[in-house]
Amino acid sequence: MNPPPIAPKDKIIFALDVEHFTEAQRWVNLLKDRVGIFKVGKQLFTHSGPKVIDMICQKGQKVFLDLKYHDIPNTVAKAGEEATKHQVAMFNLHALGGLEMMRKTVEASRSIAKSFNLPKPIILAVTILTSMDEESLKEIGVQGPLIEEVGRLALLSQKAGVDGVIASPQEIGIIRRQCGEHFLIVTPGIRHPSAKKDDQKRTLTPGEAVEAGADYLVIGRPIKEAKDPLEAVQKIVEDIS
Ligand code: C5P
Repeated sequence: MNPPPIAPKDKIIFALDVEHFTEAQRWVNLLKDRVGIFKVGKQLFTHSGPKVIDMICQKGQKVFLDLKYHDIPNTVAKAGEEATKHQVAMFNLHALGGLEMMRKTVEASRSIAKSFNLPKPIILAVTILTSMDEESLKEIGVQGPLIEEVGRLALLSQKAGVDGVIASPQEIGIIRRQCGEHFLIVTPGIRHPSAKKDDQKRTLTPGEAVEAGADYLVIGRPIKEAKDPLEAVQKIVEDIS
């Protein structure tokens, strides 16, 4: 059976790239019910801890815990259990942690969700960080080509039972071809054609990314730094629609 389609606003993952709990709270209050998911990354989580997840969930909103776990299988599986108990909607790990690490984490999350009667979070893999290029891959002993490594690691993640991957706009095509239409693809690097690109080098508009096959879009600064963030969200929803 095909999964139900995701509504345009629910495709938007807002990157809560802020320093403080109160700032996070202000953004959640503003964008509550206007976006699908709030992404909590390493900076905010290290500053505020799990109470930031609880704050977002208590407002009836969803959390993507973006901590990119990478460690021995048992350690990542235990971290995945904790994320599941905190009722995050999504969390992620590095595919480079290997098949066993990913498989054990998927199983642990599924099993703890079942025993606490909670939904299992969507688990996403990071393939190759988009900050790396062919040269830096070679430095760590990976021969590339980079795009083929991305496809290979996406396939390995799927084999481990992971639900999808985080991928740059350029990687969507190869991942769709390798992993089929039901494997989730979450894409950052989204910009409006008229907007500044910040430090993102290869960007797509929200509509182009969805057209190319992205299921969810991670968007931070185009909303956060907009004169009118609600209007910016509205424009993104219209572009996706
Ligand atoms: O502000 P902007 O829309 O560029 O935010 C993008 C978000 O997605 C940030 O939280 C960033 O850490 C994350 N991200 C990214 N590129 C990747 C992976 C994640 O920009 N390849």
